[in-house]
Amino acid sequence: MKAVKERVLVLHGPNLNLLGKREPEIYGATTLENINEMLNARAAALGLEVVIIQTNYEGKLVDAIQQAQDNYACIIINPAAFTHYSIAVRDALAAVRVPAIEVHLSNIYRREEFRHHSVIAPIAIGQIAGFGANSYLLALEAASYLIRSANL
Ligand code: DQA
Repeated sequence: MKAVKERVLVLHGPNLNLLGKREPEIYGATTLENINEMLNARAAALGLEVVIIQTNYEGKLVDAIQQAQDNYACIIINPAAFTHYSIAVRDALAAVRVPAIEVHLSNIYRREEFRHHSVIAPIAIGQIAGFGANSYLLALEAASYLIRSANL
């Protein structure tokens, strides 16, 4: 296990376990398993360790965020539908002193109006949206940059 400053927690929210089958015209053909393999490979190349959790439950996401305190240097989170209304997920991220990067496969601002608002964005370091599976890899690069430049 790497030191805390080299550990990144990746959280996938509800329905992301269906990637590959779910609305492929929006989310692409890449499965969550593929994304996780890509994240592990890129993390190794960057000298980081990723721990990856997918859950369909808001409370489990809150528990995972709370447990990130003192265990991770950074959180990469695709809150999925919770992005748009979960004050519980937002408050958990605000409560822990672990910087969060918000990720979306799709460009939420080009889609239905209810997706244009993120309750997570104001407490995130930044947001990456619209690059499909690569959004996660870009987020990992951003996490690496933050960690290496001690911008945390
Ligand atoms: C999503 C965008 C959300 O609006 C949606 O509810 C998702 C996936 C994305 O990755 O593009 O489940 O977070």
